[in-house]
Amino acid sequence: MSQKISLTRYLVEQQRIDGHIPPELRLLLEVVARACKSISQAVNKGALGGENSILGSAGSENVQGEVQKKLDIIANEVLIEANEWGGHLAAMASEEMDNIYLVPNRYPQGEYLLLFDPLDGSSNIDVNVSIGTIFSVLKKLEGHAAVEESDFLQAGNQQVAAGYCVYGPQTTLVLTVGDGVAMFTLDREQGSFVLTEENITIPADTQEFAINMSNMRHWDEPVKRYIDECLQGTDGPRGKNFNMRWIASMVADVHRILTRGGVFLYPWDKREPEKAGKLRLMYEANPMSWLIEQAGGAATNGRQRIMDIQPAKLHERVSVMLGSKNEVERVSAYHSKL
Ligand code: AHG
Ligand code: MN
Ligand code: MN
Repeated sequence: MSQKISLTRYLVEQQRIDGHIPPELRLLLEVVARACKSISQAVNKGALGGENSILGSAGSENVQGEVQKKLDIIANEVLIEANEWGGHLAAMASEEMDNIYLVPNRYPQGEYLLLFDPLDGSSNIDVNVSIGTIFSVLKKLEGHAAVEESDFLQAGNQQVAAGYCVYGPQTTLVLTVGDGVAMFTLDREQGSFVLTEENITIPADTQEFAINMSNMRHWDEPVKRYIDECLQGTDGPRGKNFNMRWIASMVADVHRILTRGGVFLYPWDKREPEKAGKLRLMYEANPMSWLIEQAGGAATNGRQRIMDIQPAKLHERVSVMLGSKNEVERVSAYHSKL
């Protein structure tokens, strides 16, 4: 790319030239990006800062019963503080908050709803492996003056923007507003995100899968069959060898898939059969599914397109299979046969 295009310019052009986004949504996305920059700074500090080190546990649990890391809480606060005063939002929801967060009365109210997983891949924080922030933007339902949790319960196909920021060797923000997927790399000298990749497409076929293999004995038959066939390599029904990657940060696994293809699975399993899966629908699976679909891939829970699932609660969980289209269609076909 000969001329550097900043995130600001990209969004202005999405608004002005292409008419894809209204000004309030542009502002919202800029604020989210600014918050991600701050989280990136905090991540980089790691063990520096002595007593204020961002590593380690916060000694509390979130609504999902998971131990919160200090950085989970810090990232959550950064996102709230950055977004509450701008006038573009009505409310926010987060993996780290039991209930929705209403924009305080002292600030102007907007019409958007922001959902986020402030820090994805928490188990990787202390071991210096890539982590990220995932976000999804919905519009408040018309005719509702006061926002309630039920306003958030919209299917993923209603999202107006979605993205993530991965804090890895580089800090990269990946975004869709329904016009393809664009990637922006944080230029620390300039302090701004610069467009480094546009119109991302995922190849329909792949020879790489991502799944936590230690759960194999707990999987359902269709997932067992799919992975077993991949593992048989050139001697098996697939007639080709597969490589495996598992970073344990969905953001980083999805980033690899958007970069070079592949398939990611975190399926329902028998460890906690009453739960639909481990990952959360509204602020993990939906935004990632939209990015993947916008790049030509597919995302399913095995039986249904993830973005068509009508959520019944804010922290709802879901079985996730996403990535290269032909692989996702294959694993869906195995589900419909059983
Ligand atoms: P979070 O850190 O936000 O709770 O999410 C972690 C998720 C996801 O990012 C990742 O793919 C998965 O949990 C890893 O789970 P396992 O540790 O079971 O492999
Ligand atoms: Mn997560
Ligand atoms: Mn998280």
